Parts: sequence; structure tokens; C-alpha cells
Amino acid sequence: MNMFARIPTKKTRTRFDIGVDNDRAVDLTLWHSSYVEGTKDDEGSTSLVFSLKEKVGALVDALKVFQNHNVNLHHIESRPSKTDKGEYEFFVSCDNQKGGLKEAIDELQTASKSLTILSRNTEDNVESVPWFPRKIAELDRFANQILTYGSELDADHPGFTDPVYRARRKEFADIAFNYKHGKPIPNVVYTKEEINTWKTIFRELTKLYPTHACLEFNHVFPLLIDNCGYRDNNIPQLEDISKFLKDCTGFRLRPVAGLLSSRDFLAGLAFRVFHSTQYIRHPSRPMYTPEPDVCHELLGHVPLFADPAFAQFSQELGLASLGAPDEYIQKLATCYWFTVEFGLCRQEGQIKAYGAGLLSSFGELQYCLSDKPELRPFDPIKTAEQKYPITEMQPVYYVAETFETAQAKMRAFAATIPRPFSVRYNAYTESVEVITKMDQVMNLTKAIKGDIDLLEQALNKIN
Ligand SMILES: [Fe+2]
Repeated sequence: MNMFARIPTKKTRTRFDIGVDNDRAVDLTLWHSSYVEGTKDDEGSTSLVFSLKEKVGALVDALKVFQNHNVNLHHIESRPSKTDKGEYEFFVSCDNQKGGLKEAIDELQTASKSLTILSRNTEDNVESVPWFPRKIAELDRFANQILTYGSELDADHPGFTDPVYRARRKEFADIAFNYKHGKPIPNVVYTKEEINTWKTIFRELTKLYPTHACLEFNHVFPLLIDNCGYRDNNIPQLEDISKFLKDCTGFRLRPVAGLLSSRDFLAGLAFRVFHSTQYIRHPSRPMYTPEPDVCHELLGHVPLFADPAFAQFSQELGLASLGAPDEYIQKLATCYWFTVEFGLCRQEGQIKAYGAGLLSSFGELQYCLSDKPELRPFDPIKTAEQKYPITEMQPVYYVAETFETAQAKMRAFAATIPRPFSVRYNAYTESVEVITKMDQVMNLTKAIKGDIDLLEQALNKIN
């Protein structure tokens, strides 16, 4: 898995960055930004934070450890410790491919009062809290971490042998790689051939929506026609949709070149950000795509993100993922699969589709409401364990009674995730608050009290 992780040493369980340990909470903000800009940000790089007694030559002593074990350093910073008088703290980013990094770490652990490893590889760091974005702009770091496709295509992709399609995919990948939070998403002039592909899919799917899609979807879809240019002869622009969603629920889109890891993708949802592809599938097979494309995102996902209850459900799924252990990311990703991608719900005594994988697939949208698949009630504990195929229609679907009940169940499930902190999204600062201290809880209490007072006033006025 691609991710940052932090490991407290056995010696001193200092938890950097999230400030869990009140006595030893250390502000890593400055180092953090230097790290992002100044070092390799991939699996070949491991970063360490450690402290040594303040004395002349402390830096030389530290560097010698790496030299002795042939570990190449990419970046180093130092500062007097804010919490331990007489200690000096070092932040180093080093090559983990060559040399004896493990031995160097062992030696540093003996010599230093505290040592924390920040690594993208958590396999050896089972006790760590994986890195997660705290500010919405930190989602920029996911842009070049796609797992598949992007501008490169697998041999079985319909566009693999088509140089024109591959060149076009590179244009889309470049938009996604260069995109930064807060910037408008560049509009794309789609070709006639691309619009024809969209038209085929749009026409077929819109025939089914009135009878097969959930009420919320059918409520929003006409608004997308009116506000975002949803038409059979026009592929809507991500920027227009993003603005529309922002007005409805605060959700917004970010362009992405291909599939992100489950951890990165779910983290986006915590900020009400949906990573959306912008390219379209290969014209040779308009009713098939081996990967998400603009048809899947715009027809399948977008309408429901304009619904407040669904938006809240999606965000809570994302918040539950922040800092969760790998095994729970897998469980949450499976719940995501059976809800946001392939969810069914019961409305007015009938089963309807709300999952994007269904609402963007002409064949599966009909199949899922037939008597062929097995339907089970959505229960995150059981759903999270369900195996599923990714290249064929689902044999099992899970049915949510409402988004609110699904959310309540997900919330109860999220409470079982072993994390030494709670998280809350602050929409004013567009950041995730890590709640570990009493004063934070008191501030939260005040905010909730303010809402309760407002509720009481409103009820009185209505009465
Ligand atoms: Fe999707």
C-alpha cells in the first residue's frame, strides 16, 4: 500500500504530528511542509524524526550513523526541541533502498531519547498510525499516486493498441497531475467521437433511470440537465459540476488520472472531495470500460453527491478511514463498494439502485433489479467481509433502508476501528481536526450547545 506511516518506538511512544500524547505533542508543521517540497515523496524514501542531547557536534554524530551504514540522505533539518530542554531534534529523509537503514535506525534508537519513523511503507510498522491529510490542500499529494492506467494502459485495455487514444489519455493525465487544490478544473473540448460515445451511453441509461434509479437520483438529474449541461450531445465539464455540487452539499470534484489506492480515495471523501476521471472510454466498446471514466463518474456518482444525506454518508465513510489500520481500510473499501458503487435501497416498497457502478451500466442496472442476484440487508460488519468480483456482475447486493439508517450503521461500525483519536471535519477551515484533548472536546461541546440553542429557538418560533 502507498501511504505514509508513523511508528512510535518501543522506547518512547512519542506520537508526532497528530499530537495524541499531550505531554509530548510536537508541532511538525514546519518540517512537514519542508518534507513535501524538498524530498522524494515515494516508496524509496523513509523519513525519521529523532532527538539527541544538545551539544557541539550533535549533528556530526547523527550524520555519522547514516554514513557508517551507507544510508544516503535526501534531506535533513534540525532545531532545538520544543518539549525537551537540552535536546536537539532532527528530521531526516533517507534512501531506504540501499545501505543498512534498519541498522542505522537501531543505532539511533539507542542513542536518541525519542525516534519516530514516517514511512510510506507500513508493512514493518504495524503499530503506526498511517499518515493522513489534515488540510484539504494536502490532497494535492495524491495526484501522482495512481495505481493503474493514467496515461499508461494495460495490454487488455480496449485502447492499448490505439496511439491516438493513448495520446489523448496523456492529455487528461497531465491535467490531473498538474491540478492543484483551489484552481478551476480546466475545461476540455471533447472530440466528436468522444461525444458520440457519451451519447450512446447517455441515451441508453436515461431510458432506465425513471424506473430503476432511486428517488434522490431522479430528483437531482433534471437539475444537472438545467445547470451543468447534461445532454446527450454534450459531455459536461467537471468544473461546472463541481460548482453545482459545492452549492448543494459542499462536495467538489478533483480531476484524477486513474485509480487511487483505497486509502487515498477514501481520504478525499473525508473532505467532501470526489476524485473524478475526465477521460472517456475507448470508442470501440461504448458499453464497456475496465476502469472508471467520465461516464461512470458523471452519470453514476455525481447525482447522489448532490443529496445531503448521501453526501453525509460518503463523508463519514471517508472520515472513518483517516489513520485507520490497513485491514480496516479494506473493510471500509468493501463497504464503499457495496454502497456508493453497487448499493441498492428500498423505496416505497420497491428496490431501487443508488450505486454508481449500477447507474452507469446499462446491463447491470437491469440485472440488479431482476430476480437473479441475491439481496441482503446492509450491515457493515457482515458487508465488510463479503468477497466480490470486479470484472463481472455482482452475485450479491446489499440493500439500505435509507441513507440515514445506512449512515447510523456505518457510524457504529466506524466506532470499532482502533484509532487513538477521533476526527471531525471543520468546514470553515477545510481541515480535519484530530480530537485528543479535553479543551478540544469542550470547544466541540460549545459548538453543539450553540446548535441545540438554535434548534430550540427555531422550534419556538415555528410553534
Ligand atoms: Fe466509482
